[in-house]
Amino acid sequence: MPVRTACVALALCYATALLGAANASPRLSNLAVSAENLAFTAGTPQTSQPIVIDLSTADVVTKLAAQVCVGLFNRDGASSRGAYALIEAVDADWLADIEGIRDPTLHSVADFLELCLHGPNPVARGFLRYNYTAQKELVPNIITVAAVLDAVPLEDGHPAITGANILFDANVVFAGFKPLDATSYTFNQYANITTGISKMNPGYSKSKTHPFNPPLTRDANSGLVDYIVKERLFNFFLWNGCIPGTEEYVLQKRMVSDPSTAWKKPLDVMGYDDSWPIAGDLFEAETDCNKEHNMGQIASNGVPNLSFFSRKAKVGSPMLQNIAPAPGYNKSKTYIGIVVGDGDNIAFIRTSRRRWFMDRAARCAANQGCFPLLWTISPALLHLAPDWLRWYYNNSYASKHDYFVLPPSGDLYAYPAMMPEDMQANFMSNTERDCVLLNTSASVTWEWFDTWSTAIKHVYPKYAKQNTVRGLFAVNVPYMFPVLNFGPKEHYKILGGKVVLFKPREWRGPACTPKSACPTAHELAAEINGYPKGTVSHIYVTSDGGGNLGDIYDMVAALDEHVEVSNHEMLVQAALQRG
Ligand SMILES: *[C@@H]1O[C@H](CO)[C@@H](O)[C@H](O)[C@H]1NC(C)=O
Ligand SMILES: *[C@@H]1O[C@H](CO)[C@@H](O)[C@H](O)[C@H]1NC(C)=O
Ligand SMILES: *[C@@H]1O[C@H](CO)[C@@H](O)[C@H](O)[C@H]1NC(C)=O
Ligand SMILES: *[C@@H]1O[C@H](CO)[C@@H](O)[C@H](O)[C@H]1NC(C)=O
Ligand SMILES: *[C@@H]1O[C@H](CO)[C@@H](O)[C@H](O)[C@H]1NC(C)=O
Ligand SMILES: *[C@@H]1O[C@H](CO)[C@@H](O)[C@H](O)[C@H]1NC(C)=O
Repeated sequence: MPVRTACVALALCYATALLGAANASPRLSNLAVSAENLAFTAGTPQTSQPIVIDLSTADVVTKLAAQVCVGLFNRDGASSRGAYALIEAVDADWLADIEGIRDPTLHSVADFLELCLHGPNPVARGFLRYNYTAQKELVPNIITVAAVLDAVPLEDGHPAITGANILFDANVVFAGFKPLDATSYTFNQYANITTGISKMNPGYSKSKTHPFNPPLTRDANSGLVDYIVKERLFNFFLWNGCIPGTEEYVLQKRMVSDPSTAWKKPLDVMGYDDSWPIAGDLFEAETDCNKEHNMGQIASNGVPNLSFFSRKAKVGSPMLQNIAPAPGYNKSKTYIGIVVGDGDNIAFIRTSRRRWFMDRAARCAANQGCFPLLWTISPALLHLAPDWLRWYYNNSYASKHDYFVLPPSGDLYAYPAMMPEDMQANFMSNTERDCVLLNTSASVTWEWFDTWSTAIKHVYPKYAKQNTVRGLFAVNVPYMFPVLNFGPKEHYKILGGKVVLFKPREWRGPACTPKSACPTAHELAAEINGYPKGTVSHIYVTSDGGGNLGDIYDMVAALDEHVEVSNHEMLVQAALQRG
């Protein structure tokens, strides 16, 4: 290794080697490998730069192929460097904040595919032949086959195909197939080597005239493909998979009930189910998708680079969040918690919530008001992107008043009261484990308007036993329905003597519909100011109606002096002391 002896200044040598590798043909990139070894032996820098590619302008076929390769590179043991794709500006921001890599050396996508298929040390075993135009509807299934066979999906004529082995010919095997056939075939052949499931809409749009057969007008979002491939998830999309009486429903039911798969229960469904968009997306929380009620969701469609961020070991010991003081209850005050919603959605965590969090930090630093704020944050980040979680926690310490609680409905976006007892027990103990790891004691929880009675009588009191989950912020589905289980003046219920369930009160922002969920900041402040003194309550803020951090600040500015914006521990203590 001549590099070792020739280089005196390690960092300089390292940078030169990487630069050389990037500019020369990919076969020369073993130069970077030797530099990496050198760096490793010397102990600094700890990790070498991942292979970074820019996919923002790639065509859809190339994007899918490259995302498969990113997933293969990021598999355990496949490559010590890993690979990272830049799709939007925020991807570069995360790379800079977490890895300290600014202005990364970019590999060309063509070189990257060459490296993936031909090496040195190729991570793909060959290619999967398909026709994107003709088989667009089957792209979710094609990704599954790519994941289990380590095959790069390519069309005839693509430059990367030259000299590669063909491992699967979808033009032949899937000829004439609909998603139902391809899903069934893929399940029968390969489900036993997949580790979980994900749903990826290949591009259907909602249609009033063809509700059962919507038109395929868009492209699939390839963002999550790298993670699907890395983890060998069973990816599919059946538009009618949650509609009883259809063949798709029968197939999906068979798949998620089959005991021969290694899929955990309740099943955490990656991606997103946006079939049947009625009253929101009817099946997005998954628990209502089949009669077994054995699924929940991790909303993550389109989120790139999770294969890269999940290379880090999952969080195994409790994180530390700001101390949430809970002094004695004062009956002359009104206590109100403000919960920032939608933190279950990994795409939000990647983009908009990151912006809100930085905006909030700036407001606190500039003394514009630093009241306690409760951020929902997905516990799936514990394994999907531990460093994103650390980024949020690290950046909460300066304000001292940013807190984290679990998003709906705990471990997964799901409806726990719908689940059968064994499923529910797993779900609840997973939620308790998440609380410990995230160092929190509260969660948002969603139920359908007709399952609250069960939830209140039979489900949530069970959290009292371990007393890890002590506060629950209820949200009703659909949000415009009243929850008759709470009286008009009742703001919470104490369950099992220890668990406080706060009555739903959602704020979607000041400029949306219906008016009941969309008061102006002043109207909402007036409502809270008017609560009888001694009230303990919460507001769940979402952005789907246009609500934003500025609206929260406007609302808080209009609160009377006796109203105390409170952290989750204080709310629970106040409710328990008030009785
Ligand atoms: C994430 O993935 C996208 C698309 O694959 C890529 O363009 C981007 O650079 C990646 N980087 C980060 C930090 O997310
Ligand atoms: C894909 O199939 C279409 C017909 O559906 C055909 O026109 C096109 O040439 C095929 N593309 C490739 C790359 O083979
Ligand atoms: C998975 O199932 C297929 C089809 O039944 C079978 O050929 C294969 O041996 C199984 N693989 C494993 C790892 O069980
Ligand atoms: C979080 O802070 C710790 C301690 O300062 C630091 O070691 C770590 O790199 C930070 N992580 C992230 C993702 O910001
Ligand atoms: C958070 O961590 C601190 C320090 O370990 C611990 O004292 C506290 O009980 C934890 N709180 C919760 C809610 O887990
Ligand atoms: C209780 O709250 C009221 C209203 O904010 C305040 O005037 C009073 O001083 C508080 N009492 C105590 C003991 O803090």
